[in-house]
Amino acid sequence: MGDLQTEIQKRRTFAIISHPDAGKTTLTEKLLLYGGAIHLAGSIKSRKTQRHAVSDWMEIEKQRGISVTSSVLQFDYAGCRINILDTPGHQDFSEDTYRTLMAVDSAVMVMDAAKGIEAQTKKLFKVCKQRNIPIFTFVNKLDRYGKAPLDLMTEIEDVLGIRAYPMNWPIGIDGQYHGVYNRIKKQVELFAADDSHGQKERESIILAMDDPELKNKLGEDIYQNLLDDIDLINEAGEEWDDGKVANGELTPMFFGSAMTNFGVRNFLEEYLRLAPAPQAHISTEGEIKPEDKEFSAFVFKIQANMNPAHHDRLAFIRICSGKFERNMQVFHMQGNKNIKLSQPQQFLAQDRQIIDDAYPGDIVGLFDPGIFGIGDTICEGKNRFKFADFPVFPPERFARVEAKDTMKRKQFIKGITQLTQEGAVQLFEQPGTGMESYIVGTVGQLQFDVLEYRLKNEYNVDIVITMQPFEVARWLEFKNGSMVKPENLRGADRGMFVNDMKGRPVLLVNNEWALGWIVDNNPDLLLHNVPPDK
Ligand code: G4P
Repeated sequence: MGDLQTEIQKRRTFAIISHPDAGKTTLTEKLLLYGGAIHLAGSIKSRKTQRHAVSDWMEIEKQRGISVTSSVLQFDYAGCRINILDTPGHQDFSEDTYRTLMAVDSAVMVMDAAKGIEAQTKKLFKVCKQRNIPIFTFVNKLDRYGKAPLDLMTEIEDVLGIRAYPMNWPIGIDGQYHGVYNRIKKQVELFAADDSHGQKERESIILAMDDPELKNKLGEDIYQNLLDDIDLINEAGEEWDDGKVANGELTPMFFGSAMTNFGVRNFLEEYLRLAPAPQAHISTEGEIKPEDKEFSAFVFKIQANMNPAHHDRLAFIRICSGKFERNMQVFHMQGNKNIKLSQPQQFLAQDRQIIDDAYPGDIVGLFDPGIFGIGDTICEGKNRFKFADFPVFPPERFARVEAKDTMKRKQFIKGITQLTQEGAVQLFEQPGTGMESYIVGTVGQLQFDVLEYRLKNEYNVDIVITMQPFEVARWLEFKNGSMVKPENLRGADRGMFVNDMKGRPVLLVNNEWALGWIVDNNPDLLLHNVPPDK
C-alpha cells in the first residue's frame, strides 16, 4: 500500500440522500456498474415490500446474489477509492440516517425531476447543511416528463436556500430529451440507442458545439433553443465558486437518468473530480487531520444481528487519521481501556471480508462485544482525545412497550436493551413499574414499526405498543445540584416522570405550553432537550 497522503487523496466518502422512490437504489447500483463492481445491473423489483429492510441494499443483494448487506459499499474507479454509505430510505425518519451523515465528506442529493424537492430530502439536506459539507445534486428520471430544468434550479434555491450550478443541461423537449450539453467540456452528449434496458453501460455520441452535424441531428428549433438556454444559464446563472461548493452553498447540479444510465458516467467522473478527499475532524484536542500519523476513528453506527444466524454485533467506525492495521492496539476513550482490533471487516461490492489495513475516509466494521457506543472515539499511541459530540436528537414520540407474553420478559429486555445501544430507539423507565414495561422515545413513527419487527424477527418477542400523548422530553436538573424527584418537582403529574437508562430524570409533557407551566412554577429548575453532559 502506498503512503498515507496518497491513500487519503484517493478517497471519496459520501452518502446519497433522497426521498423514497427518487432513485437512490438505482443510482447506487449504476455507480457500482460503472465502477466495475458488478457486471450487469438488474432491475430491482418488489423492493417496496422491504419497508423494514435495514438497508436498501439488502434488496440489491437478494436480486444480484451478491453480498452487500452492510452499511457501506466500497469500490475503485479511475484511481479513486469510493465509499458510499447507506442512509436507510424510510418514509419516516430515524436517527440512524442523521448519524451516517456525520461520517461522510460530501453528499449526493437525488431528486425526481417530476417531483422536485420532497420532504425527506429536505430534512436530510438540513443535516448536511449544518455540517457545511459539499452537496451534489443528481436530477433523476430525465427519460420521462418532469419539471422544467430552470424551475428545478429555482426550487433548490427557494426551498433549500442554496444556489445551483448546472453542470449539464438537457437538450430537447421535456420527456423526449436527446441528451445533454456538458457545460464543463462545452460539448453535446447525445443518447445512443440502448438495447440492454439499462443493464449495461450506455454510450453517448459526442459532438462539439460547432460541429455542423449537430444542427442536422437536433433540428433547427431544438438547436436554437439550446443556444438560447446556454446563453441564459451563462448570463443569469451563478458563477462557479470552489469555496461555495466546498461549504455547501453552491450545489453542482447534474441531469440524468439512473434507470437508462444516461448521465451516470458523466456524473461519476465530475463528482470524483470535485468532491473532497477526507477532511479534518474537530476533537477535544483541536483539529485532527487525516494525515496525522497516529490512527484515530469514531463509531457512528452500531448494528446488531446483521447476520441473524450469528447474532453478531458490529460497530462501524469512520477512520479520521493515520493508518488502520488489523490487530492494532488502540485506546478506547469512553471505555478508558486499551483494546485490540481483531477481525475488522470491510465491504467490497462482492463480499464482506477481513481486512488488513485501511485509511482515513474508510469505514470498517468491528465485532463489538457490547463495549462501544455511538460517537465513541478510539485512538492510537499516547493520544487521548474525543471527537466532537454526536448530535443527539430529542425524541418526539413516546410509547409504553411491553412483551405480550410475560414469560418472554428476559428476551424482551435483552432485545430492547441491545436495540437501544444500537441507537435504534431511546429508552426510559417509569419509576415503580419495574422492568415489565419501558417508555420508548423515537424521532419518527416508523421507528416503532422497526422495533416491533426486529424484536419479533431477531428475538422472537411479540410486543404491545401503547402510544403516549407526549411530544416533548426534557432532562431535568436543579440549579443547586439536588436530585430531581417527582415529589420535589411542582407539576410532575402534569406529564410523566421517567428516568433515562443512566438514571437521569426526564419529564415527558404534551406540548411546549405544558412545559411553560413547569418552567414558571419551578424557578430553580434547569431543563435540557438532550441529556446534560455529566
Ligand atoms: P429509492 O431507492 O430512492 O427509493 O428509489 P429506487 O432506485 O428504488 O427507484 C424507485 C423507482 O423509480 C423504481 O421503479 C425505479 O425503477 C424507478 N427509477 C429509478 N431511476 C429511474 C429513471 O431514471 N427513470 C425512470 N423512469 N424510472 C426510474 P419501481 O416501479 O418502484 O420499480 P421497477 O418497476 O423499476 O422495478
